[in-house]
Amino acid sequence: MNQKQSRKGKSEKTKERRAALKAERAKLAAGRFLVKQANSIPDPLEKFPTFQKYERNGLSCTLSCKKVKDLAPETLEWAIELCSTNMKAMYEKSSGGWRAWEKREEMSEDAAWYLIAYDTNSQKPIAFSHFRFDMDFGDEVLYCYELQLEKEYQKKGLGKFMMQVLELMAFSNQMLKVVLTVFKHNPDAMTFYEKCKYEVDETSPEDNFDETFDYSILSKLNKMKPTQKTSL
Ligand SMILES: CC(C)(COP(=O)(O)OP(=O)(O)OC[C@H]1O[C@@H](n2cnc3c(N)ncnc32)[C@H](O)[C@@H]1OP(=O)(O)O)[C@@H](O)C(=O)NCCC(=O)NCCS
Repeated sequence: MNQKQSRKGKSEKTKERRAALKAERAKLAAGRFLVKQANSIPDPLEKFPTFQKYERNGLSCTLSCKKVKDLAPETLEWAIELCSTNMKAMYEKSSGGWRAWEKREEMSEDAAWYLIAYDTNSQKPIAFSHFRFDMDFGDEVLYCYELQLEKEYQKKGLGKFMMQVLELMAFSNQMLKVVLTVFKHNPDAMTFYEKCKYEVDETSPEDNFDETFDYSILSKLNKMKPTQKTSL
């Protein structure tokens, strides 16, 4: 190869790199736009009346979806309390431990959305999911931070139904996937998410000689959306 050919090869590579960078920036911008758009909807569940009710296995519930700032303060307090009741022991077993104040802050941040199920008879809240529309490793996602049901309402299909509602809100707003974190020492939740057809996400950390992780990141992809890798 002579000098001229080598210069040409280099400039081709530079052009390719620039084009890839441009495509990556465009993909990120498009993702951020979709996240912003999803977050600006007053009620992402409004368009889907059949998913606002759950009447199966002896349960009769209504579901509603709100931003944290629109939740009644006592409902947020109930959610924080339920999270502690269900999860404190799991967190205490983990390397991070249980930090009540951090959890309260996380659950109260402006970006938090809540899907809440109410018992139709008592009108009391019985289950919730704290979720967010967000960018995660360069992808537009619905991140499920929590799914918590009161003990007496568990194992009646409501949890699975609420995951389907999250998927509906995610995919109808063109999110690439629904993502969540689960403790490896929570086998009930692991089995549940497996039944809901969640798989280990590419961003889930892998144990190695230096480090082990007590959690996995699981996800379900939006089949209607082509995946496009970023280098983030
Ligand atoms: C985990 C949780 C959200 C599941 O919701 P749920 O309403 O109880 O589960 P569902 O009745 O919808 O179950 C859906 C499927 O998962 C299975 N499943 C649910 N809990 C299970 C358990 N403890 N052991 C084995 N399988 C379980 C069900 O058998 C069902 O299988 P199917 O689809 O073949 O019928 C709920 O039990 C809960 O709030 N647990 C405490 C908090 C928690 O661990 N949250 C998850 C944190 S990541």
